[in-house]
Amino acid sequence: MAVDQMADRVRIYEVGPRDGLQNEASIVPTLVKRRFIELLAEAGLAEIEATSFVSPRAIPQLADADELLSSLPRGGGIRYPVLVPNERGMDRAEAAGADALAVFTAATDAFTERNIGMTIDASLEAFRPVLRRAEALGWWRRAYVSTAFGCPYSGRVEAAAAVDVALRLLDLGADEICFGDTIGVGVPTQVAALTGRAVTAGIPLDRIAFHFHDTRGTALANVAAGLDAGVRTFDSSAGGTGGCPYAPGAAGNLATEDLVYFLDASGWEHGVSLAGVLEAARFVATALGRPVASKVGQAGGWDPRTGAATARG
Ligand code: COA
Ligand code: ZN
Repeated sequence: MAVDQMADRVRIYEVGPRDGLQNEASIVPTLVKRRFIELLAEAGLAEIEATSFVSPRAIPQLADADELLSSLPRGGGIRYPVLVPNERGMDRAEAAGADALAVFTAATDAFTERNIGMTIDASLEAFRPVLRRAEALGWWRRAYVSTAFGCPYSGRVEAAAAVDVALRLLDLGADEICFGDTIGVGVPTQVAALTGRAVTAGIPLDRIAFHFHDTRGTALANVAAGLDAGVRTFDSSAGGTGGCPYAPGAAGNLATEDLVYFLDASGWEHGVSLAGVLEAARFVATALGRPVASKVGQAGGWDPRTGAATARG
């Protein structure tokens, strides 16, 4: 890796309040979600995906999106993107004071049909007016391409398929593409191949993000491959919670504390405090009634001066 790249800063995009909680069966009170978000902000996370303005029937856990987003303190330089699937969601997000959104489709029709009841083509048509409105309002706009490495319904996904969808989303006005390994099947060679293909197709590296699930223990290796390929934005979830109801077996997201430990020890700047993330992870785990499941949450960080473990989750 070139030295000038090493000097770069990594963006950690926190998805715990949205991706982390959306699949939890017991409804977390709005005030608890709000406190979780505050702790994440205090830990230095500057982009926190707060909730989804989707059908409450599809995701009951996030039915309080309107109340939650309206209650968040604004103006602290923190971006709180929200998921918006359609114009109805856009109306709600706008009324609640959003200024950043994420639309979400996938690299495979089999997944979008189950997740949002649309083919990829239909989802792009649904996003067209949403992204146009968001652009007119000056909102920041992310677009997810889920199942970019593999699909629970149709199997292997070629990089070309994911990049094709990404190009169409950029055409519709997305600022950033986030490729998701929704079921955690990807490996570093695939990350390198996908990034290479995206760059060759004309997508700038600073408009690419990766969203890895750690289902099979490959998430950090995939981050390392993404860094090597020049990508600087990675998603993670404090406490490693997460999963998608339409992606069977999609166990936890890459835990933010595991990512922060890895980046710290590797010398990358990112502005996030490990102790702060562990506090947020502990808070959400307690609210969900279980221990922090991440590696660093269990082992603690590590102080290279003393050789001792530091705070645990
Ligand atoms: N906010 C609130 N309610 C919404 C809504 C939104 N953004 N979009 C649709 N609805 C409601 C409709 O009003 C309707 O309610 P009703 O049955 O009480 O009249 C119902 O949802 C169905 O609406 P319809 O337009 O037929 O949508 P659908 O059933 O085809 O669902 C989505 C499409 C996209 C709205 C739905 O699949 C969804 O929200 N999926 C989200 C999945 C998700 O978040 N997955 C995890 C993220 S990867
Ligand atoms: Zn996810």
